[in-house]
Amino acid sequence: MNAVTQMAQTARPAFGTVLAEHMAVARWHDGAWSDCEIRPTGPIEIHPAAHVLHYGSTCFEGFKAYRWSDGSINVFRMDRHIERMRQSARALVMPEPGAEQLAGMVRAVIDRCRATVPEAPGALYLRPVLFGTTANIGAAATPSSEATLVVLASPVWDYFAGGAKPLRIFVDDVNTRTASHIGMVKTGGNYAAALGPTLAARQRYGVDQVLFCPGGQVQETGAANFVLVGEGQLLTRSLDPSFLHGVTRDSLLRLARDSGFEVEERVFHVEEMLERIRDMEAALSGTAAVLAGVGTLVYRGAEHRVGTGETGPITRRLRAALVAIQQGEAPDRYGWLTRV
Ligand code: COI
Repeated sequence: MNAVTQMAQTARPAFGTVLAEHMAVARWHDGAWSDCEIRPTGPIEIHPAAHVLHYGSTCFEGFKAYRWSDGSINVFRMDRHIERMRQSARALVMPEPGAEQLAGMVRAVIDRCRATVPEAPGALYLRPVLFGTTANIGAAATPSSEATLVVLASPVWDYFAGGAKPLRIFVDDVNTRTASHIGMVKTGGNYAAALGPTLAARQRYGVDQVLFCPGGQVQETGAANFVLVGEGQLLTRSLDPSFLHGVTRDSLLRLARDSGFEVEERVFHVEEMLERIRDMEAALSGTAAVLAGVGTLVYRGAEHRVGTGETGPITRRLRAALVAIQQGEAPDRYGWLTRV
């Protein structure tokens, strides 16, 4: 048993802090991708003039492989995540990885790291990242002609350190998380933009996350989508380019609709949200967050309790339904899982 596997089996390290021992690497050069190389996870040499370091040419994905009780390893919605990565690359005018190519790299990494995939409730988090490497500090308005694509893997458990503890969220109607046309692109700059407001709110109000509500419209947090759920109802913002089109969000909406929920996807405002949390639950959805209950919203200095202040029963039910599919305890009716 290698050191990473041993650590992953004996402790639950903070999300993303422990990496699997191997990674996959491919390079874009002269208009073509190199073959994928599997190598020990470690530093990659990069020129200080590289496009990514100056002009932010980078995008990534995050999705999970689960070890089922029969020992098989299954990836949740791999195709959808790969499609989103390709879409992010196009939006940033970066070389687009082929769907087959990226799937092959993911499979190759899992294959080398099979023993590192934790048992439930853990998972192997897969993190493809693409970055522009052309050394040219004048290329602000020119795409990078060279790029590197890496697939990392990390054994993970809870993303939020409090585990099942309900989250405290600061409602920010002043800052925007990102420029409105790029919010749906999974690029590092969007997370960097959320960091300052998130740290400031954490320090001032002891919150876990910021819910960005530009112009008073409820949008998303720095690291996850936002939903309100009630008895037979779900409300979330309708898709537009200003925020990330979460794969977990999409899966959740599908499950809710098929369980008879009335699902509303539309623009709604902070005032309506504060009104509705009297009898609805609030939650964050994402690959890392799964479906994490929100207990308190802090808005303009006032605390607003969501329902009882605990993670509500409907949130728990929806989360359990999703996790059961991911972990192979409920039938995969939608063909969401790929055995690797
Ligand atoms: C994910 O949910 O996969 C993300 O990319 C969020 C990240 C902050 C861990």
